[in-house]
Amino acid sequence: MSERRILSGMRATNPRLHLGNYEGALRNWIRLQSDYRVFCMVADYHALTTMGDVPPDLAYNSREVAKDYIAAGIDPDKSPIFIQSQVPEHAELHLIFSMVTGLGKLERVPTYKEKREDLAEGRQVSYGLLGYPVLQAADILLYRPYGVPVGKDQAPHLELSREVGRSFNAAFGAEVFPEFKDIIDDDDLRSKLPGLDVDENGQLRKMSKSYDNCIYLTDDADAVAQKVKSAFTTPSKMRKTDPGIPEGCAVCQYLKLYSPDWQTQWEEDRRGERGCMQNKNDLIERLNEFLVPFRERRKDLDDASIDAILKRGREEARDVASETMAEVRRAMRLI
Ligand code: TRP
Repeated sequence: MSERRILSGMRATNPRLHLGNYEGALRNWIRLQSDYRVFCMVADYHALTTMGDVPPDLAYNSREVAKDYIAAGIDPDKSPIFIQSQVPEHAELHLIFSMVTGLGKLERVPTYKEKREDLAEGRQVSYGLLGYPVLQAADILLYRPYGVPVGKDQAPHLELSREVGRSFNAAFGAEVFPEFKDIIDDDDLRSKLPGLDVDENGQLRKMSKSYDNCIYLTDDADAVAQKVKSAFTTPSKMRKTDPGIPEGCAVCQYLKLYSPDWQTQWEEDRRGERGCMQNKNDLIERLNEFLVPFRERRKDLDDASIDAILKRGREEARDVASETMAEVRRAMRLI
């Protein structure tokens, strides 16, 4: 295959993707489809690294995430969509990579440090949580991609993946894994889209299922309206005539992305010529307009059609992955 490849993925922790997932990463995958073969993975194994007492329904979550990829604009005729655990080479390469990855390096990964602190008191840190980026390195390098489009928070994982590839090449004296590029949006708003609420200090915080502050790609028009109506705005703006601070207001932040008139709206908000309700109503209209094509594409997707798409995706992914594994085995003198 001569086409250049892109690889990316999202965890199947939840069955629903939100606007932050779209703006931070998916949007870029969609844009890349016209020039690259974009391999879109659903990372089901990765969802197990932070599970609580009840294991997630991975088969359900993975299917729903795959549907959201398509709803968002991934064209399954152009871009293979597949589930990580259905391509066993991921687990195999992960094992091999674990032999060339230093413990110190893994312990310094910021997401590991955060997750370890977040774990409830008394819960043990699993080997899988520490190895999370090693599995991600396998996910990426199996496809020897040109680039990997992800959200900004993933930059340390990509750096570690590159180091794992280099360590493998050095250890076995073969250039099996060429370097790949990070494709990360440097737009701060998109890469860290705020949720509808604020933290305990009154600051916007990122959209995340764990904060229950998300607009989901599958939300219908009423749900969007209801959520936007209860969204956080400038706390000192009680009346329309009070000056707003659009930089600290979730609704104004979204207007910047979804309303072509946002500059005027921001100025009017600042000058006290615009009320929060007016901003909210405008945003509801714009957001719903934006989500119409998502809803249209998703409504035709039943489980049988998504299963057929995932089967095709898996076959194409395995073709590439097994070729890489053959080279890995030769380089390691396993064969
Ligand atoms: N760690 C990524 C996230 O949390 C998901 C992921 C797993 C991934 N494997 C990947 C992303 C490979 C890019 C490439 O979003």
